Amino acid sequence: EWTTGNIVEEQVAAIRAQVGDARVICGLSGGVDSAVAAALVQKAIGDQLTCVFVDHGLLREGEAEQVERDFVAATGAKLYVADERERFLAALEGVTDPETKRKIIGREFIRAFEGAEKAVLAEAAADGATVEFLVQGTLYPDVVESGGGEGAANIKSHHNVGGLPEDMVFKLVEPLRALFKDEVRAVGAELGLPAEIVQRQPFPGPGLGIRIIGAVSEDRLRILRKADAIAREELTASGLDQEVWQMPVVLLADVRSVGVQGDGRTYGHPIVLRPVSSEDAMTADWSRLPYELLAKISNRITNEVEEVNRVTLDVTSKPPGTIEWE
Ligand code: XMP
Repeated sequence: EWTTGNIVEEQVAAIRAQVGDARVICGLSGGVDSAVAAALVQKAIGDQLTCVFVDHGLLREGEAEQVERDFVAATGAKLYVADERERFLAALEGVTDPETKRKIIGREFIRAFEGAEKAVLAEAAADGATVEFLVQGTLYPDVVESGGGEGAANIKSHHNVGGLPEDMVFKLVEPLRALFKDEVRAVGAELGLPAEIVQRQPFPGPGLGIRIIGAVSEDRLRILRKADAIAREELTASGLDQEVWQMPVVLLADVRSVGVQGDGRTYGHPIVLRPVSSEDAMTADWSRLPYELLAKISNRITNEVEEVNRVTLDVTSKPPGTIEWE
């Protein structure tokens, strides 16, 4: 019988059989799949697993803490954190072209991950152990997609943070290969992961780096993070977050418009809300969120985020728009 409990039991046994007493490494991205895969492996082999979190500084408010604190508290996993925020900021400095940004983020991510990997390997070697396996949160639809066909043209280069360095010597552990997303969430809940991780909506690997239209900077990240946190908080409070596939919040960092606040003129940046409804992200429609909710988000963002004086709503379906702006 196909119950969540059975899936967990079966996978735990399979992981133990595959791994034996070798060491295992797992990259955490902040997303659901890598967290659930890691939690399963942790349950199976405990301290033979080391998780690695590369903090690229492009996550949303609270997400790094979710990995570093909440994930660790829920699973007891060993975590190696690589604080690489400076590296990514430096590499992205002045870059505005979306594909270039994606390539830089993907490249730097692999380098950063390799650096972290070396540290984990050295630690294992000091114990006389070797790291032989790498965990991947591959899901059934990914398996089908990559085995199957030319159908999906590569419109944007998608980097999954947690993606594999090319000369990787590890054998793969892929405990989610037979599962769909909703099953992965159920397994995560069964394993005691917090709802903020398990129910998280899709978020792109390159993170806020592709939601700042214009060059990425620390200041711009701070502004977007604040606006995004407000939008997410209000969406959650409205109870509608499960109806929406995802809601990118985008900062038009190179655009300014005139506004008025108190007796003063402002010259601030627009924020775009991009709530979409979708089954699989291949096509999408813009979500008809209630006006009251949109008004609340708009009021709060313009009141609480000093640099933002205008909130706009993206009413484009996909196609022709994509979900992300870059
Ligand atoms: P687009 O913008 O192409 O996005 O309509 C489709 C879905 O993919 C997500 N997305 C990404 N996910 N790495 C990811 O892991 C990426 O580079 C990336 N780019 C877009 C996007 O959030 C949406 O869910």
